[in-house]
Amino acid sequence: MQDRRVQSSGGSAPSNLPIALTIVSGITAALVLVQAMLAGRFLYINPDLVDLHEIVANVIFLTALAQVVLAYLAMSRKLATRADLVVAAVLMVLVTAQIGLGYSGREPGEAAALHVANGVLVFGVAIVALMLSRAVRVPRVT
Ligand code: HEM
Repeated sequence: MQDRRVQSSGGSAPSNLPIALTIVSGITAALVLVQAMLAGRFLYINPDLVDLHEIVANVIFLTALAQVVLAYLAMSRKLATRADLVVAAVLMVLVTAQIGLGYSGREPGEAAALHVANGVLVFGVAIVALMLSRAVRVPRVT
């Protein structure tokens, strides 16, 4: 596997920030897919799985937060771009909205309907964040 640690500008030790950002972005995207799978199962097979859906929701909140922090740290070391940080921030806002829609969507209605659509949007943005984090970086020497 390609060594994705990048020599940060100024010649200091290789940084694991880009790898960490990619790994956390991958975990977030995978967990959002798990959410859709759990939703299908608690809607049509085992209603108790809604509790696991709620737990995974809170884990996604933490991984999305970690993505913002890692993207900021990597960007401040010129190991990531502003796009990484902006997309991570947008993902954080959408995930927070998704959790709110989930709780207020317990009764069928607008919130529940928006929850499904926003769930798909969250997955799309999570994939964009993952693809951006995979981009090979050559630190700009200022
Ligand atoms: C496309 C994917 C998703 C679908 C189809 C989906 C579907 C649902 C449905 C039908 C409910 C209502 C359950 C009930 O009757 O109480 C729900 C609740 C919830 N969802 Fe999702 N969801 C998805 C993704 C997500 C994601 C990505 C998150 C968070 C990051 C999330 C967080 C929640 C939360 C916090 C609740 C409230 C759980 C509770 O009432 O205890 N969902 N979801």
